[in-house]
Amino acid sequence: MYFFSCLSLLLVICSCESYPSFDLQELLDKAFLTSDSDFIYELKKAEIIPTVVDTFVPSLTVKISWENATAKLGNTVKPNAVQEMPIVEFVDSVPGLSTHELDPATKSMQYTIALTDPDAPSRDDPEWSEICHWIATGITVSSSSVVASEEIRTQDLKEVMPYKPPGPPPKTGKHRYVFLALAPANGTTETLHLSKPGDRQHWGYSKERQGVRMWAESNGLVVVGANFIYSQNDQQ
Ligand SMILES: *[C@@H]1O[C@H](CO)[C@@H](O)[C@H](O)[C@H]1NC(C)=O
Ligand SMILES: *[C@@H]1O[C@H](CO)[C@@H](O)[C@H](O)[C@H]1NC(C)=O
Repeated sequence: MYFFSCLSLLLVICSCESYPSFDLQELLDKAFLTSDSDFIYELKKAEIIPTVVDTFVPSLTVKISWENATAKLGNTVKPNAVQEMPIVEFVDSVPGLSTHELDPATKSMQYTIALTDPDAPSRDDPEWSEICHWIATGITVSSSSVVASEEIRTQDLKEVMPYKPPGPPPKTGKHRYVFLALAPANGTTETLHLSKPGDRQHWGYSKERQGVRMWAESNGLVVVGANFIYSQNDQQ
């Protein structure tokens, strides 16, 4: 990985002579970010970092799927495809790291999924943000080998806040719907007793642009994985 970073840097530097008007810093940033962490790069590009969460070290892959749609780190999905509660799978592989293994203690931890909309009613005017769409806990991590989908369907998901499907209002552009995998910061394998947010709007914190960050902190949870989709109303 490190070798590859150096190599791409070298290539970038070598190729600069033929492009007199290039921006060295931009190229260096891009070479560094894309070779080391495409995943974090995508979250930064979509401004999920730092608007929704601070930068973090991912320890698992978040798979989110509906019957007719899959979250692919920033793909656009029609609202009618995400009306049902999705199937969630946390897999112990990290994008970009091929042989990552979680230790057994981590595997027996209870993980939580949260879905938040930082773009309510719109990304330009997020006065209702964030909206809490979903919190469910009791998720365990599956190994990166294939898991039968039946096994995932019957997992013991406990909803803290019931799933409210994305419903972006007309003429409000694309909303980011951000799924976060949260783990207990103290590494406990005990059952978690999470607080239900007082409201969906602002996650009950009665202040604009507040949400999952504050809720996670007050419940002793940290972000360990993420995925997101864009969705917008047909009427624009
Ligand atoms: C998925 O698509 C099929 C074919 O268009 C449709 O019949 C079905 O109702 C869709 N399922 C959901 C959950 O929207
Ligand atoms: C670990 O954190 C959880 C969630 O905040 C808390 O309920 C629990 O008491 C903590 N356990 C220990 C051993 O600190």
